Amino acid sequence: MHYTLCDLFSDLTQNAIEANAKVIKVELSQSSQSVAISIVDDGAGMTRETLMRATDPFYTDGKKHPGRKIGLGLPFLIQTAETCGGSWGIRTKKDGVTAIAGTMYRENPAEKSGRPFGDTEIATPSGTEIRCIFDLTNIDTPPIGDVPGYFRQILTFDNEYELIATRITPSDTTVIKRSEILEALGLSDEGSFSDANALALLGQYLESMEE
Ligand SMILES: Nc1ncnc2c1ncn2[C@@H]1O[C@H](COP(=O)(O)OP(=O)(O)OP(=O)(O)O)[C@@H](O)[C@H]1O
Ligand SMILES: [Mg+2]
Repeated sequence: MHYTLCDLFSDLTQNAIEANAKVIKVELSQSSQSVAISIVDDGAGMTRETLMRATDPFYTDGKKHPGRKIGLGLPFLIQTAETCGGSWGIRTKKDGVTAIAGTMYRENPAEKSGRPFGDTEIATPSGTEIRCIFDLTNIDTPPIGDVPGYFRQILTFDNEYELIATRITPSDTTVIKRSEILEALGLSDEGSFSDANALALLGQYLESMEE
C-alpha cells in the first residue's frame, strides 16, 4: 500500500494523543491545488532539544519501538514536504518555553518565502502546533487518501479527549466535535466508541459528509 497524506496526518494526530492532549484541534483545508492541515494540541509539548531530535531522521529514543532506529511521524512529514515542494512548521511550548522548527509555513506553495507562525503565543501552558501544506499539482505529492477514514481513526482512540475537526473545502466548512458525536450515540458516559455498532454509525456519518 502506498503512503498517503492521510496516513501522515494520522501519525501526527496520534502524536498529540500520545502527548496526553485533552483538546486537539484539527483543521483540514482542501482545494484542487493544495491541501493544508493544522493540528493544535494542549499535550505535553516539547523542549527545544526534543524538537531537534524529533525532527532529525536519524534519531529515536528507542523506547517506543525498540530496535527501530528512526521515528516515523515527524521525519516522514519533513521528507514528504521537502520532496514535493510542500512546507511545514512546528511550534511547541513546554514549561513556558516555545521552540519552532520548519520551513516557514507558506499559505501558497508557489510562494518562495513563507510566514512564521505569527505573533500569537500558544494559548495553553504547554502544547504543540503543526502545520503543513502540500501542492496537489506537484507530481511527487502523495495522494490525499481516505479522509473519512482519517477522521474515524482520530475520533476513536481510547483516551479521554476532545477533538474538534474542521473540514474546509471550496464549497463547504464542516465542524465535527468528538463529544457531540459521543453524546448523539449515547456514549457520553463511556467516553469512547467501544462497540461495533457505534463505530459503524460513525463510519456512515463520516462517509455521508463526503457526498
Ligand atoms: N504533538 C506532540 N506533542 C508532544 N511531543 C511530540 C508531539 N509530536 C511529536 N512529539 C515528540 O516527537 C517524538 C517523535 O515523534 P514521531 O512521530 O516522529 O515518532 P514517535 O511517535 O516516537 O514514533 P512513531 O510515530 O514512529 O510511532 C515523539 O516521541 C515525541 O517525543
Ligand atoms: Mg509518532
